[in-house]
Amino acid sequence: MIETITELAALRERVRGWRRDGLRVGFVPTMGNLHAGHYSLVMLARQYADRVVSSVFVNPTQFGPNEDFTRYPRTPDADTAGLEGAGCDVLWLPTVESMYPFGVELASRIRVPGVSAVLEGECRPGHFDGVCTVVSRLFNQVQPDVAAFGKKDYQQLAVIRQLVADLQFPIEILGGGIVREADGLAMSSRNQYLGADDRPRAATIHRVLRDMREAHLAGAPRAVVQAQAAEQLRQAGFVVDYATLRRPDLSEPLDGEAGPKVALVAARLGTTRLIDNLEF
Ligand code: PAJ
Repeated sequence: MIETITELAALRERVRGWRRDGLRVGFVPTMGNLHAGHYSLVMLARQYADRVVSSVFVNPTQFGPNEDFTRYPRTPDADTAGLEGAGCDVLWLPTVESMYPFGVELASRIRVPGVSAVLEGECRPGHFDGVCTVVSRLFNQVQPDVAAFGKKDYQQLAVIRQLVADLQFPIEILGGGIVREADGLAMSSRNQYLGADDRPRAATIHRVLRDMREAHLAGAPRAVVQAQAAEQLRQAGFVVDYATLRRPDLSEPLDGEAGPKVALVAARLGTTRLIDNLEF
């Protein structure tokens, strides 16, 4: 049976007990409205830990003023049942007041420079500061041995790895593969904002990412790969924030450069903003 904990003292006591018994603790932070992508991270954490804690917390500090904080989908009963099915031991449910005891305005903030500044950092100013601020707090609350993050948010994973290395959290970070719908659309809580007309079109993103891979592997220059991708997305009705080919560390590769790459897309259909990526 999953145990839901809402008090920090109770969470600490539970984790302390596990540690006394020599058990390794895994952690999966989420904002709820969980789907198979989240559950895959619980199962991944399970492989590296004896007990798994998941948090559900819609974090106000990582949403921009015109973003979807208030209408972000909240589905506590389904989340609890799903986490239990995935093998999660404890659901940690902090409140905004307990996460930010001095209030959001007076909260100490964590900013990871460099990798936070590009791509999502440019489109969503302050977003990664909010993510790092809350993830640092969650790490201090749960004190896990390992924590799992999805590659769906490729840049977020890179930012978290930098945060953990720089602040020397004694936590191993695991990256979980992207879980997709049958038509290739990466699972996301935001997919349900898509109307019936837009939902089939959303799968274009995954096709475009695969086309970027093929064009790159066929030797097309980076500028051409990116321009073609943006054009394909616009044809399908998207407003494109970026369609870019990067090195795994998100720096810009030279044309003809060997080595692993990642294609990343952020694009909007109406008011719904979708991100996805493909490594090769
Ligand atoms: P959220 O969007 O709920 O995602 C929680 C975790 O699930 C993230 O690590 C994300 O990358 C992963 N995830 C989401 N969709 C996925 C998919 N289709 N396949 C694999 N993994 C997927 O990311 C956040 O919350 C927040 O920023 C958080 C880290 C919790 C801090 O507030």
